[in-house]
Amino acid sequence: MTTASEWTPGEAAAKDPHDRPERPWWQGAVFYQIYPRSFLDTDGDGVGDLEGIRRRLPYLARLGVEALWISPFYRSPMADYGYDVADHCDVDPLFGVLDDARELVRDAHEHGLRVVVDYVPNHTSDQHEWFIDARSSRTSAHRDWYVWAGDDPAAPPNGWMSFFSGGPAWTWDAATGQWYLHLFLPEQPDLDWRNRDVVDAMHDVLRFWLDMGVDGFRIDVAFLVGKDVPLRADAPRPAPSPYTHEVLRGVRRLLDDYPRDRVSIGEIYIMSTRAVAEFYGRNDELHLNFNFPPLYAAFEEPAWRACIDNVVDALDPIGAWPTWVLSNHDNPRHRTRYGSADKARAAALLLLGLRGTPFLYAGEELGLSDAVVPPERRADPVGRDGCRAPIPWEAGPGHGWPVDDPWLPWPPEAPAAHAAAQEADPASSLHLYRAALAARRRSPALRHGDFRWLEAPPGVLAFARGSGADQVDVVVNMTGGEVRFPGAYELLVASAPGQAEWRGVLGAWSAAWLAPRPARGRRRRP
Ligand code: NOJ
Repeated sequence: MTTASEWTPGEAAAKDPHDRPERPWWQGAVFYQIYPRSFLDTDGDGVGDLEGIRRRLPYLARLGVEALWISPFYRSPMADYGYDVADHCDVDPLFGVLDDARELVRDAHEHGLRVVVDYVPNHTSDQHEWFIDARSSRTSAHRDWYVWAGDDPAAPPNGWMSFFSGGPAWTWDAATGQWYLHLFLPEQPDLDWRNRDVVDAMHDVLRFWLDMGVDGFRIDVAFLVGKDVPLRADAPRPAPSPYTHEVLRGVRRLLDDYPRDRVSIGEIYIMSTRAVAEFYGRNDELHLNFNFPPLYAAFEEPAWRACIDNVVDALDPIGAWPTWVLSNHDNPRHRTRYGSADKARAAALLLLGLRGTPFLYAGEELGLSDAVVPPERRADPVGRDGCRAPIPWEAGPGHGWPVDDPWLPWPPEAPAAHAAAQEADPASSLHLYRAALAARRRSPALRHGDFRWLEAPPGVLAFARGSGADQVDVVVNMTGGEVRFPGAYELLVASAPGQAEWRGVLGAWSAAWLAPRPARGRRRRP
């Protein structure tokens, strides 16, 4: 295994004096997810592109994140906005050309930013040449690259339901007289990873991007890639099968064989942290896995305490490193879910204060809410448009985009709180995120220190993070009133706009990072 210290193309990541060489970089890094359609358009088609991301690299480096996860930009008919891949090794013309991807990876590294790309192994587009061939005849070369079953047009092979339509996860192919499986849209047929040729071809996809220099993969639907055989119908969904774990071990071995530390991050859409823990294997499956219960938790102390306890209980004993996420392209933004800018700001210090790797979703640093999308402008088949609204960079009407009216409407904050306005306002959400990311970067305690609960008043989460001499207490007031939290502290970062000093009191819906002051008479830590 190689480590962060051996990776030196960029200043920010390379010069961190606190990165312990024995730790892989992805344990200390903060990730930033980019949904490329919505980040920044440069060619005037109203859809973001790779060049748009490249132009914002200085902004991202300054923000202080350390790795980007870019949602799919591969060739696709866009039935699921890129999660229906028609060519894994080419860039869709909407987003640019392959050289744009190459340049983006190179320039990101020069800015000290690592790049993780999306890997969609569960299914392809129905327009992928593999599937076009597969459905051409029962004896075609790629037929058994997909999951075909049953020959009665009146009876799907089992009761599995599509995540998207609510109907059967099977579509009848009249021409060849069989059903094919699609856990998502009919335009997203499931690959059959039991077929060695599929394994080889999909491993080649990993190699293609690794050779281009990417630093890892976010793995779509990682928990269901290996299908349950025989196709058991005792539940509406397939269960994660032992074969899924074997597939993931294969991916891990491939990454481990590459020079430099490359990371795998599994999308595990199971609402049990114990179940999520299984996808770390015995440190021979995925390096990191998304754990979504906190994404669905209300901004309430008991709910969050339970989520955190579950992570400590399920992951610590097996030495698995947690992840934390509040917002992504599949769910309402946390600013919208919580319905309050104060709560959203406090949640940022919670997210970035926990032990594990945090994932931010582009626009979260601006405190964006979901756009209100009128019915005639809805694009996504399952209604996820609001959180995918374009990022407003400057004053309107185009907010820094070359068109005034991009593919989705602007979020409500666009007129007053676009990025340029926040840049000029020291009390803005953008400045809060920058301050927190800078403080986190300087603090070994926050990057990878221990976690310990502290006594706190009802409705308040308080925990200590520590690494050697570096100690930070994180306090989050999840109540609508002031609470006292006495102690000799120096204020590192406060979520309340404009708060510069610590007076032992947390305002309603607010959070603070506090450095314990040494006891009187003892020398202060440098
Ligand atoms: C999870 C992705 O995050 C989501 O956007 C997509 O629709 C499904 N997987 C299917 O690929």
